[in-house]
Amino acid sequence: MLKKITVIGAGQVGATTAQRVFERGYADVVLVDIVEGMPQGKALDILESGPVVGSDANIIGTNGYDETEGSDIVVITSGIARKPGMSRDDLLLTNMKIIGDVTKEATKRSPDSIVIVVTNPLDAMVQHAFEVSGFPRERIIGQSGVLDTARFRTFLAQELGVSVRDVQAYVLGGHGDTMVPIVGYTTVGGRPISELLPKDRLDSIVQRTRDGGGEIVALLKTGSAYYAPSAGVVEMLDSIVLDQHRILPCSAYLQGEYGVNGYFAGVPVKLGSSGLEEIIEINLSSDEQAMLQKSVDAVEELVEIMHKSS
Ligand code: NAI
Ligand code: 2OP
Repeated sequence: MLKKITVIGAGQVGATTAQRVFERGYADVVLVDIVEGMPQGKALDILESGPVVGSDANIIGTNGYDETEGSDIVVITSGIARKPGMSRDDLLLTNMKIIGDVTKEATKRSPDSIVIVVTNPLDAMVQHAFEVSGFPRERIIGQSGVLDTARFRTFLAQELGVSVRDVQAYVLGGHGDTMVPIVGYTTVGGRPISELLPKDRLDSIVQRTRDGGGEIVALLKTGSAYYAPSAGVVEMLDSIVLDQHRILPCSAYLQGEYGVNGYFAGVPVKLGSSGLEEIIEINLSSDEQAMLQKSVDAVEELVEIMHKSS
């Protein structure tokens, strides 16, 4: 039997995620949005691609939640996205309300599901969904690190003229301006990046990675990135659905790991069919640990604003 995956929010990230999942063929998909007709139309359009892409999965769109009942995995992308001049944090209170509502509706009907949150500001939103759902930390995770790391790997591969597949890296911390590309764990074909690039080039690639979301917003003008973000979500879904035990950078609830207690932040985690199987603690330099802490401080500030407003 195929898995059942609900994607909430049928906008750019949600619809692209639904399309990628449908094309994998390993899960039926329920696409939810508040805009009447839109998730139904997009789902039907994707369904009709089945004979061409070779997928026998089912996909439906809806404006309600009854159809989501018994989902194995719920992906939350609903909310507003950045426009030029806005930071991810500007989305906080609007998206907090949306995340609270959709998390209640979805987790009530799929109490055993694994939830992946995508909506920004990511680490604060996944924390809100965690608090609203009451789910254990193994079953509620945020997507950001796979995207940020993919950007870092893309820029490094371009710079060095090598395949993206041969660039290993981690971008950790919060999904914001303070994210932490871990240079000490970045290797190309097994060689440390510091042996391959001068410091000024590496610094500028690290900065471009931190600004990666803004670079796309400035070009698109009407919204933010969705192709690479949805690819990031689906890499996480593959690991869960296919029980791959991949080690991927994801936003996870920390209980003492990396010296952080009670907040979500991007760290390497092992993902399998039960969700988060393990938080991997890599050794960070004192500079990297300090940057990670600064990044978590920024998440903490947002969580405090949310707690005060509710
Ligand atoms: P979008 O505007 O294209 O889609 C959002 C959708 O959510 C809209 O279709 C809207 O009607 C729907 N929606 C709003 N309230 C809802 C509700 N109560 N119930 C169900 N649906 C509702 O935005 P896009 O580009 O898809 O981005 C979605 C979110 O993901 C944004 O917050 C964005 O910042 C975030 N994002 C996060 C990334 C990450 O790496 N964590 C990467 C890319 C985007
Ligand atoms: C990004 O990094 C908007 O968070 C989104 O592209």
